[in-house]
Amino acid sequence: MASQYIQKHKDRFISELIEWLKIPSVSADSKYKNDVQRAAEYVRSRLLEAGVSNAEICPTKGHPIVYAEKINDPAKPTILVYGHYDVQPADPLNLWTSPPFEPVIKDEKIYARGACDDKGQVYMHVKAFEMMMKENTLACNVKFIIEGEEEVGSANLEEFIRSNTEKLKADIVLISDTEIFDNKVPSICVGLRGLSYMEVTLTGPNRDLHSGVYGGAVANPVQVLCEMITSLKDKNNHITIPGFYKDVLKVSNNERKLMAKIPFKENAYKKDLGVKELRGEKGYTTLERVSVRPTLELNGIWGGYTGEGSKTVLPSKASAKISMRLVPNQTSKKISGLFAKHFRKIAPPSMKVEVKEHHGGEPAVTPIDSPAYLAACKAMRDTFGKEPIPTRGGGSIPIVALFEKVLGLKSVLMGFGLESDNIHSPNEKFGVFNFLKGIETIPLFYKYYAEMA
Ligand code: BES
Ligand code: MN
Ligand code: MN
Repeated sequence: MASQYIQKHKDRFISELIEWLKIPSVSADSKYKNDVQRAAEYVRSRLLEAGVSNAEICPTKGHPIVYAEKINDPAKPTILVYGHYDVQPADPLNLWTSPPFEPVIKDEKIYARGACDDKGQVYMHVKAFEMMMKENTLACNVKFIIEGEEEVGSANLEEFIRSNTEKLKADIVLISDTEIFDNKVPSICVGLRGLSYMEVTLTGPNRDLHSGVYGGAVANPVQVLCEMITSLKDKNNHITIPGFYKDVLKVSNNERKLMAKIPFKENAYKKDLGVKELRGEKGYTTLERVSVRPTLELNGIWGGYTGEGSKTVLPSKASAKISMRLVPNQTSKKISGLFAKHFRKIAPPSMKVEVKEHHGGEPAVTPIDSPAYLAACKAMRDTFGKEPIPTRGGGSIPIVALFEKVLGLKSVLMGFGLESDNIHSPNEKFGVFNFLKGIETIPLFYKYYAEMA
């Protein structure tokens, strides 16, 4: 029985994951380039030990992609397991209660950067595969594609899948890089948002000025930037960029009704975040605002003097990083274009404007009546003892839309993290319960998918 194998080997599973988590595979920071490479080699070795017939490190212009496969019977369906071994930067370091790359287990949770997003969830697949190989129950062929650039936009993965369509031939993509609603309320993610990420810079006077000598007479870029950003939303928190909502697919009343049934507790949510009130687009619930509606958020803003003490200065420049989460049928290219055009238009003549586009990504929705979705439901129902509910995720996994566009493959987003796991934040964690639950559920997905597909 599956759970006997897990019981017997769980301590080893956890200590192997901990070894992986010790490698700081921060893709955004070139200082960690060797560590990113080491993290790729680590998972390749563990895949080989678990029984794949070949495993490669595929170099790219950026960080490498790990590819591995076990084809045991061409008549069986093939599952393409996708995940990422890169992690977000760990800062601010001083807010971690234990160092991000020295994993510890506290209250049955593994604390480390990447514990949930996504090394811990990828490792569930490696160990589930090991178990299926050892028990001779592998019901499908499997291909693994574990990349090292998800957290920086997956730019090189697109080229890799375009030039390896034959190698990546499969029937379905299986991904664990999302959340369940609660350990007692299992859910399956059926949608992801897209992303447009912009950086803007305003330049006013040609140099920093004495704020007494010139202040009052010259437009201040920091002030103007704040005014411009403020105007991007109206009093109902609707985004004011012309055309922004034009392509947004209306969410059906049925889907809204289903969402309203999710046992979301607004008070607990506020308490958890330490805020007294919530704010968002008028006319939509909190759950709708974080999943089926597009948003615009300020990620960072800087300019002028921010060091210790005070300096009287009227700065020459001010900048901000602004991201927009997109929903079907918005496209990243179009929205970035609309943003750039509008932002230039609202700038006063006193400012020179630069608008730069960072990585983007398209939204994706997955079917809830396909054999693969039903197999995932059945697997989770077995292991959680409850029917999972479909929910849409607010985050983005840019490659999901490209798997569909380039390879014609749909994805099943069967993640096991929790919203409270602090991904991208200090004190990221992953429950031992969730890690083991994933290992238990994945082989059942293979089994039911082989039966249904
Ligand atoms: N695993 C997340 C995405 C996610 C988290 C989806 C929770 C649904 C629920 C992924 O690693 C991520 O953080 N993606 C980035 C994408 C970006 C850097 C292109 C994101 O959403 O910000
Ligand atoms: Mn992730
Ligand atoms: Mn992430």
